[in-house]
Amino acid sequence: MVVKFCSICAISRPVLKIIVSDKCMKTRERCSRVAFFSLLFLLVSNQLQAGESIEGDIENGRTLADGKCDRCHGVGGVSDDPDTPHLAGQSAAYLLKQMRDYKSRAREDRNMYKRVRKLDDRQMADIALWYESQPLPEVRPPGEQELKAPQLVTMGDTDRSIPPCAICHGDDGKTTANAVPVLAGQHVDYLVSTMEYFRDGTRNNDPGGAVQAMIKKLSDVEIEALARYYAALGGRSAEPSE
Ligand code: HEC
Ligand code: HEC
Repeated sequence: MVVKFCSICAISRPVLKIIVSDKCMKTRERCSRVAFFSLLFLLVSNQLQAGESIEGDIENGRTLADGKCDRCHGVGGVSDDPDTPHLAGQSAAYLLKQMRDYKSRAREDRNMYKRVRKLDDRQMADIALWYESQPLPEVRPPGEQELKAPQLVTMGDTDRSIPPCAICHGDDGKTTANAVPVLAGQHVDYLVSTMEYFRDGTRNNDPGGAVQAMIKKLSDVEIEALARYYAALGGRSAEPSE
């Protein structure tokens, strides 16, 4: 197969097609932004896929979670409370990082600090592995049909230098990259509040401030639409199950 390269940015066309679309080749200015995102994507995907491999005792994780976490996060990590995130099916690397961040107060939350401050790294790894192993029930929030993906998800916004959310979170919001959270089926209210925290800087534990930089450019309306879109993708029960 002959692989064609863009004459301006020199990225191969099949790669550009995957990352954005053919439209990127129209002007030099647009092209350089796309090249920037493409490089970012390649860098990030290598880095995020490479995350540490976590070892531990899942059964011990289950016992710890049952005693200390399920009360709020729900049995097996499917939570009934719209402000408390589901943990089921979330990557262990992401969960472990968040627990460490709460413990070191890199991510501020009084409640969560109290829950993890006495856990050691091995116990946190066990819990992370347990929640990762839990299935994502394919349930949509009642009344939510499949929503059309907002443009920010698939295309980003080159004018505001916002890359498509999908390059990291996956087309379906169920990325398998180690360090990137699954968004599909997460509670709308939690997604909105955590994006608001990124936007006002209350949450600033993202690597290199990359997530804050993007979310800071979003309006209230965009945040709401993105949260609704991801929640409605299903994957986890977003409402209390009877
Ligand atoms: C009193 C209720 C409560 C308990 C008990 C609790 N949590 Fe949480 N947890 C929360 C809330 C509320 C949030 C959202 C906080 C925020 O916005 O930072 C949260 C957030 C988290 C997150 C971040 C998830 C994400 O998507 O970023 C992780 C991981 C987590 N909790 C793990 C645990 C573990 C492990 C335990 C048990 C050791 C636990 N939690 C116990 C209420 C609780
Ligand atoms: C360059 C890769 C990348 C892109 C692009 C990206 N994200 Fe993220 N996102 C991440 C990473 C990594 C984290 C975890 C940060 C941390 O360690 O706390 C994250 C975290 C989040 C969270 C928090 C989830 C939780 O469970 O707490 C939300 C919500 C989110 N991103 C939404 C978005 C939206 C909406 C877009 C598009 C406008 C977007 N992201 C684009 C990499 C990315």
